[in-house]
Amino acid sequence: MLEQKLKEVIRDVPDFPQPGIIFKDITPILKDAHLCTEIVEAFAEQVKDLKIDVVAGIESRGFLFGLMLANKLNIPFVPIRKQGKLPAKTISESYKLEYGQATIEIHDDAFAEGTHVLIHDDLLATGGTVVAASKLIEKLGGKVAGFSFVINLEFLKGEGRLHRFSENVISLVK
Ligand code: PRP
Ligand code: MG
Repeated sequence: MLEQKLKEVIRDVPDFPQPGIIFKDITPILKDAHLCTEIVEAFAEQVKDLKIDVVAGIESRGFLFGLMLANKLNIPFVPIRKQGKLPAKTISESYKLEYGQATIEIHDDAFAEGTHVLIHDDLLATGGTVVAASKLIEKLGGKVAGFSFVINLEFLKGEGRLHRFSENVISLVK
């Protein structure tokens, strides 16, 4: 099954980006075109009963499957980027990472008020990143329709922080 296959392919890199962190490296997945297709199809199946108008993907690893999923669903993709990267007018949110601190931004004209947005990222750790992304969506008058992740690191208990935005939290590997 897909979860087992992904567990075999995702690579643990110890002590990256700093000592004590075991980094979940998804780059081996990207070498396998068929597996990438399976991932996108699994996401599409799991969100099929949700009302989603737009997929917002988070730089950088959230861009990989986020855009593929938006394409599959035939809806727009919106990039949420790290500070200083988006060229037009933006709004920002700062947050704490598993390691360090960061600010993310979205174009203030990314979507219309009332839009239902699926937030996509490769991995859920503490949840800080997608909580900040959710705040950006809500500041623009959007509604968080759900979250999709390739990996949910359940032991970090990030999922509990997301339910105030949406109960729909999808992941392919726990
Ligand atoms: C990683 C990962 C998620 C986030 C998860 O991204 O891709 O975006 O951290 O952590 P959290 O749930 O504790 O917030 P990172 O900021 O390392 O950058 P990258 O995607 O550009 O590699
Ligand atoms: Mg990331």
